[in-house]
Amino acid sequence: MTLNVAILGATGAVGREFVKIIEERNLPVGALRLLASARSAGACMTFRGREVRVAEVGPRSFEGVDLALFSAGAEASRRWASAAVAAGARVVDNSSAFRMDAAVPLVVPEINPEAIGDARIIANPNCSTIIMNMAVWPLHRRHRVRRIVVSTYQAVSGAGMKAMLELQQQTRDVLEGRPAIPRVLAQPCAFNLFSHDSRIEADGYNLEELKMVRETRKIFGEPDLAITATCVRVPVLRAHSEAVNLTFEAPIEEQEVRDILSNAPGVALIDDRAANRFPMPIDASGRDECFVGRIRRDISQPDGRGIELFVCGDQLRKGAALNAIQIAERLNASEEER
Ligand code: A2P
Repeated sequence: MTLNVAILGATGAVGREFVKIIEERNLPVGALRLLASARSAGACMTFRGREVRVAEVGPRSFEGVDLALFSAGAEASRRWASAAVAAGARVVDNSSAFRMDAAVPLVVPEINPEAIGDARIIANPNCSTIIMNMAVWPLHRRHRVRRIVVSTYQAVSGAGMKAMLELQQQTRDVLEGRPAIPRVLAQPCAFNLFSHDSRIEADGYNLEELKMVRETRKIFGEPDLAITATCVRVPVLRAHSEAVNLTFEAPIEEQEVRDILSNAPGVALIDDRAANRFPMPIDASGRDECFVGRIRRDISQPDGRGIELFVCGDQLRKGAALNAIQIAERLNASEEER
């Protein structure tokens, strides 16, 4: 059985990663339709050695499509999801448009695949949320976590391809003695870092931080989980890093944390104290696994309930396109079982 697949946002950073991952993982694709805005209609992309032309998305774009992968921003998702569903497609949406909609499952396949059910629209969580929870969930399901305090060091890929190009250009500009002028990102990024450029809410949290809080609660099915986040952008191209402080319900041994994480699917440890070698974004760039290290007792919690760790994951892969394709693989497997 083959799937007819449409990618909305095909020319973007995540869209291109969709194409690459579909090729790598050999998703059984029949026809592939590449969709974007009028700006890139007519552009050519390569899929399995053949040129495919990008089309402007329109009301008939989803006819005959079984699976629609969306990554063109929340506005485009809101505009086109119902057309895709009406045409009979199942939509995996990478934007924030439907994530907190009670009728839409928010899925990380390693955590809550059962939530997919018969849903026609499945939401792919926020990138920082996925990457953090690849490490937190395997621990939480064995030893309940009561509180999470996370600080992120986020790559610019989360702001799209133009932001990645801007960081490269700014870096050249600064090295050649010119000022770093922000056009896509809110602040100069080369040789700098800044508080995440999403909107600040009345309580002082930015939207990225609130996504981490709300989405983690939804994915875990724990509406009261205590979690607080500080989200920061750093001059890194495509892998996010996160310092995570956990408080467990009961004391937990450091070695047990290491054992659980070394067996967790999609997780790899880099935790070599002797060599002072721990996860870095360049370890995670282009890779599927989320890398975890710096696993240690939190000395500020003398009752043994606190653990510190550090996670790095590729924002465009596990943080976005890979997670969505893994959801698509599950959809395909359940259709084939019918
Ligand atoms: P386009 O190339 O035509 O601008 P990124 O996240 O890397 O910025 O990519 C965003 C992707 O979403 C691009 O493929 C972009 O297409 C697409 N896109 C943005 N806005 C729209 C829209 N209103 N309708 C369709 N595609 C859109």
